[in-house]
Amino acid sequence: MKTPNPVDLLFADMDKLSPGDDSLSLYVLRSLPQHHFEVVVDAGCGAGRQTIVLANELGTPIQAVDSYQPFLNRLKRRAKENGLDHLVRMHCMDMKDIPSVFPTIDLLWAEGAAYNIGFANALTTWAKAIKPDGFAVVSELCWLREQIPDAVRKFFRSGYPDMQSVPQNIAVAEEAGYKIFNTYTLPKEAWMKDYYDVLEPRAKSLVNHSDVAVRDFAIETLEEIETFNVSEDSYGYVFYLLQRST
Ligand SMILES: C[S@@+](CC[C@H](N)C(=O)[O-])C[C@H]1O[C@@H](n2cnc3c(N)ncnc32)[C@H](O)[C@@H]1O
Repeated sequence: MKTPNPVDLLFADMDKLSPGDDSLSLYVLRSLPQHHFEVVVDAGCGAGRQTIVLANELGTPIQAVDSYQPFLNRLKRRAKENGLDHLVRMHCMDMKDIPSVFPTIDLLWAEGAAYNIGFANALTTWAKAIKPDGFAVVSELCWLREQIPDAVRKFFRSGYPDMQSVPQNIAVAEEAGYKIFNTYTLPKEAWMKDYYDVLEPRAKSLVNHSDVAVRDFAIETLEEIETFNVSEDSYGYVFYLLQRST
């Protein structure tokens, strides 16, 4: 029997693969000082929730990059359903290779994805390809307060040991060659609606699955949600709105 892929089982048919919301992506996009971009890259686009927002709003081709073909297949279907297939271009590749494929970017967007190659490394790597005065909008999981409940600290010690505070990430962005002109923290609702409220019952239904990898992923997901519930706002997802320094 074929081993089930835990990611496919847990995230089946979900548009959102990380906290976020179309209205918030749009809000952040509209808060940029410029609204016309020629080369737009959506790094780690997943099933393309935000890709559809970008294509719809900008009316320009969006280069959607992800290393997992099944997610790109879902994006392809959704782009078609939304009448945007002429604007969404899919690329199954590693986001670290973006500069060699797209050497002159006007807007690089990455929601809930940069951490895969490390936030600092992602910003430094992409800076090479972003035009002077071009933009990067990158969201990242961050510490929001100094007081962190013990259970939360313990979870992230192994869950995301590289997590930084907002001022630390701003320093990282400046060091990587960007000017920062704004940050935006996702509200709690963006974690729950169509994300944890879908994942939680699914994960509960998979904790006794016959496949150990599926069981482990389900348990890990429930621990993540429980950590969020006791987080006391100590961490969150933050958008960094950046402009490449000239
Ligand atoms: C948490 S999901 C976020 C997806 C989407 N941006 C969203 O918010 O719904 C992270 C995505 O990054 C992709 N990914 C992970 N490592 C990658 C890499 N090195 N290069 C390209 N994509 C990668 C995964 O396949 C996944 O689709």
